[in-house]
Amino acid sequence: MRHVTEPSASIPGLLKKLSRRAEWAGGAPIANILMARTLAQPDVISLAAGFVEHNSLPVEWVEEAFRRIWANRSHALAALQYGTTSGYLPLREAILERLRQADGLSAAEHRASVDQMVITAGSNQLLYLLAEALLDPGDIVLCGAPSYFVFLGLIQSLGARTVGVATDYQGLIPEALEDRLDELERHGELDRVKAIYVASYFDNPTGVSLAADRRAALVEIAHRWSRRHRIYIIEDWAYRDLRYEGEDIRSVWTHDVSGETVIVTGSFSKSFSPGLRVGWGLLPRSLLEPVLALKGHLDFGSANFNQVVLATVLQNGWFDKHVTRLRAIYHEKVATIVSALESYLPPILDVHYEAPKGGLYVWVRLPEEIDTGVDGPLFQAAVNEGVLYVPGEYCFPAEGEPVRRHYLRLSFAMPDCDRLRCGVERLSRALRAVVQCD
Ligand SMILES: Cc1ncc(COP(=O)(O)O)c(C=O)c1O
Repeated sequence: MRHVTEPSASIPGLLKKLSRRAEWAGGAPIANILMARTLAQPDVISLAAGFVEHNSLPVEWVEEAFRRIWANRSHALAALQYGTTSGYLPLREAILERLRQADGLSAAEHRASVDQMVITAGSNQLLYLLAEALLDPGDIVLCGAPSYFVFLGLIQSLGARTVGVATDYQGLIPEALEDRLDELERHGELDRVKAIYVASYFDNPTGVSLAADRRAALVEIAHRWSRRHRIYIIEDWAYRDLRYEGEDIRSVWTHDVSGETVIVTGSFSKSFSPGLRVGWGLLPRSLLEPVLALKGHLDFGSANFNQVVLATVLQNGWFDKHVTRLRAIYHEKVATIVSALESYLPPILDVHYEAPKGGLYVWVRLPEEIDTGVDGPLFQAAVNEGVLYVPGEYCFPAEGEPVRRHYLRLSFAMPDCDRLRCGVERLSRALRAVVQCD
């Protein structure tokens, strides 16, 4: 008879036998570190973590939704049961209808169908599933330089590569995308390119929206370069609902006549409640089966109850009321942080930022000699002053464009206006200490 012995920590090396995936994942992602620090040190003003305004979280609307669900016992029982892998049908229908309205399409023009809509545990889960469905180790996703750093990290955690494309204050530059594809082809790597990632509304970290006249160009380029296989565009709408100025722009997705190139991902985290963890995606038909199969292995459906709550909130028009209120709150915060930056930042410094028209971030460029990284002098000085920011270097893809170390991302969502002003004042004291000006 064979004896099975328990693995023992005393056998050298045994505990180090992790998978390659675990090694690629590296240490704790920077987002987790910043979030943990924000929660652990309430006296520190966090302009770093991507949290939303705490006091405006929709307690009353969620309570009202509970009441509605509880009023009908069979509805309540169904809500507490497992759901389906693709998600709660009334929620998927409600989201699809919102998409149609957001893009100003008639029912006849809207060619998406509800079976292409998938609900996930936050849109991050969908981004992960898409990456799993599309990428083998060594494959490439083209991303703006800079881009949403959690996305960059998740691609790398799968052993795939992020290659940067230049951006400006109108988002990803189509000519630069074309040049990057051309370069990859010359290096025999075009077959490795599987997707282009773009957060098309109030990007994280820049707050910039992709210009209307670049949207069709992006789809045209993806089509034209899809030679031996399709190059998908992942259009991330995480911040589309949070517009404080100007008119909404039609999505990149509307330019995809085939319906097979653009994947849309969206989220209720920023516009309603991140605690509910409800995200969604509108997928080309070719990706439905693989993504649902992967999700089936992972969790066979995200929290059903949360989806029923959100469907109730949407169906009763409470979501729109909440978003209207949020827009007013964040609009005031944008004005506060921008005026604090104008008042407090040392005037002798060459600092640049654009006042965002939506989203939750201000992207600040400092003089090139100021390293904003966690091991640089500014970050330490900021921690000493009691303020946190996201160092810009995390937001740059690993290849393609240079990693720039003199940017930082400020998030204005969580602190109230007084703390926002105070946070910027602390940051400017840290800056003065580093450049030694008065
Ligand atoms: C651009 C972007 N996409 C996706 C997400 C993921 O959000 P969630 O998983 O909460 O839906 C975030 C979160 O900060 C984001 O900034």
